[in-house]
Amino acid sequence: MSDIITITAPVNIAVIKYWGKRDEELILPLNDSVSATLDTNVMCAKTSVCARPDINENEIWLNKIKESFNNKRLQNCLNEIKRIARVQKSVDEEFLSWNVRIYSENNFPTAAGLASSAAGYACLVTALAILYKIKTDISTLARLGSGSACRSVYGGFVRWHAGVKPDGSDSIASQIANSLHWPDMRVIILVVADTKKHTSSSKGMQCSVATSELLQYRVLHSVPKRVDDICTAIQKRDFAKFAEITMKDSNQFHAVCLDTYPPCVYMRDISHSIVEVIHRYNEICGEVKVAYTFDAGPNACLYLLEKDVPEIISLIKQVFPTSNPEFIKGLSTQESQDRDFLNQ
Ligand code: DP6
Repeated sequence: MSDIITITAPVNIAVIKYWGKRDEELILPLNDSVSATLDTNVMCAKTSVCARPDINENEIWLNKIKESFNNKRLQNCLNEIKRIARVQKSVDEEFLSWNVRIYSENNFPTAAGLASSAAGYACLVTALAILYKIKTDISTLARLGSGSACRSVYGGFVRWHAGVKPDGSDSIASQIANSLHWPDMRVIILVVADTKKHTSSSKGMQCSVATSELLQYRVLHSVPKRVDDICTAIQKRDFAKFAEITMKDSNQFHAVCLDTYPPCVYMRDISHSIVEVIHRYNEICGEVKVAYTFDAGPNACLYLLEKDVPEIISLIKQVFPTSNPEFIKGLSTQESQDRDFLNQ
């Protein structure tokens, strides 16, 4: 049996959303996206892998439950890693013939629009790349598992370049700024529901590509400028600009979801109440102090600066009195270590 390799990978929360693929097989997006990677201590996936001569088939356990390995994306990741290992002759053929056992756990709700697949696949491919001793761009491997996963292989602020090449070789993630760049940036997750979503991101975006005219407009006319502007806002640590773009992009993404036929409805009444509360709060403050963003689910992710955390937490508790401490999870984009080592 091989050594057991254990890796943790953090969740990332997009501020410019990825929604829509130009190639389903290679998971190539229609547009660039930008995200911040959260602190591994708070929300992360942890994965252990090993290769064994004594198991008859590949095995995967997710959150202590054995799942089928008959999953195309999972197989694509493993096959690609083994292919590279063969080319690089990084391990011998006998090792390559052994099956793998994978254990993965999240410390947050799976598939509730909390980017669990991103952390999960980033973790899995990193662990397998170490197991098979290959040297390659890890973000490309992670992308084969789940698009947004390619952004979780770096800390700080990350851009996934859509790329233009049909083989996807230029569809990679890169770091805009490391985790120490904006040390007082904070994230609060408001868990509205931790149940599995009705329409998965993959299905939802497929349907949007097929039916939404607004998506075409978004990809061509909105996202390119927003990506440039938010990268500049991050570089300059311009919170008001960062926040405005983040909220506009979340709103446009959900407008695309509603423009999809049949519509994908991810936000709930309480999600909309959160939006209203944040706008009202910013208006009263006379400056933009908090930004919301929603992925393909009802849970809100708030971006804010550390100095404003106590006031926002008490505001949330006041407006949503049934919320308890679990409702609010304070996070930081600051990490104890950068994840750049993953790509070395
Ligand atoms: C709304 O990465 O989960 O969170 O590539 O099909 O696995 P697949 O989709 P996935 O989609 C994430 C969509 C999003 C926006 C984002 O994270 O950019």
